[in-house]
Amino acid sequence: MAQIIDGKAVSQAIKDEVKREVQALAAQGTEVTLAVIQVGDDPASTVYVNNKKKACAYTGIRSLEYHLSEYASQQELLALIGELNGREDVNGILVQLPLPAHMDEDAVIGAISPGKDVDGFHPQNVGALCIGRPGFVSCTPAGIIELLKRSGIGIAGRECVMIGRSNIVGKPMALLLLRENGTVTVAHSRTADLKAVARRADILIVATGKAKMITPEYVKPGAAVIDVGMDRDENGRLCGDVDFEAVSGIAGAITPVPGGVGPMTIAMLMKNCLQAAQMQKSGIFHS
Ligand code: GUN
Repeated sequence: MAQIIDGKAVSQAIKDEVKREVQALAAQGTEVTLAVIQVGDDPASTVYVNNKKKACAYTGIRSLEYHLSEYASQQELLALIGELNGREDVNGILVQLPLPAHMDEDAVIGAISPGKDVDGFHPQNVGALCIGRPGFVSCTPAGIIELLKRSGIGIAGRECVMIGRSNIVGKPMALLLLRENGTVTVAHSRTADLKAVARRADILIVATGKAKMITPEYVKPGAAVIDVGMDRDENGRLCGDVDFEAVSGIAGAITPVPGGVGPMTIAMLMKNCLQAAQMQKSGIFHS
C-alpha cells in the first residue's frame, strides 16, 4: 500500500508558517492585503473565493472582495484593476477565473501589475520562471513541489512525467521540476502510447480533467503519483484523474482527492501574498 501524501497536513503547516510571518510584519506596522475579484456568480468560483477568504482570515491577511456582475464590461474590470495596482495598501490582486465569455482573459491578466500578480499568471512572471529569474509562481505547481519536498520525495535526477500542458498547471509544473533538476517529459492528449510514457515516471503528475483515467497500467511500481484532478465519478462524488483505489496498490506514494493537491494551492497563494508584501516593503517591486 502506497504512502498517502497528506496535503491537508502539509498545507496547514505552510499556513501556520505564513501566519507567523504575517504577525511579524504586523508588528513592524505592515499589513498584508489581498484583493480578490470575482465576476459573475459561477458556483465553483464562489466556493474557491470563499475558501481563499477563509485562508486569509486564518493567516491574518486582510482580504478585500470585489464582486462584479456577469454583465460588467471589461473596461469596468480593467479600471478596477488599475485602481488596485495603484493602491499602496494592496499587495496582491487575484481575478478569479474563468471570466464571462465577453471578456478577454489574457488582456485582464496582463493588466495586473506583475509585482501584485499573486496567481503568477502574468506573462512577465511566466517568463521569469522560464529563465530562472525571481517572480511569482502559479500556486498549484508551486504547491506540488512543496508537497514532494516535505514528503521526502526527491526530484533531482529522477524521471518526471507531467500529463497535461495547461498554462496554469502543466507548463509551469514542467519548468519547476526542471529547476529542481528533474528529467522532465510533458505528455498530453496527443501523446503516442501515453501508458508507456507515463510508466517511465518516478514522479507522475496528472492534470487531465478526466475522472479516474489513470489506472495501474500507467504507473511504474513504486512511483510517486500526484493527482491534480477535481472531477466527479459516476455517482457524483468528488474524485481525481487517478483511480486512487487501484493505483494506491502499486504506487510508492499517492495524493488523495480531496485532501491532496487542492489545499496546497490556497496555502501557496497565502505564501505568495506574503512574498508580495515583503517585496514591496523592501522595494523589490518589479512592475
Ligand atoms: N480558477 C481556477 N483555478 C484558479 C486559480 O488558481 N486562480 C484563479 N485566479 N482562478 C482560478
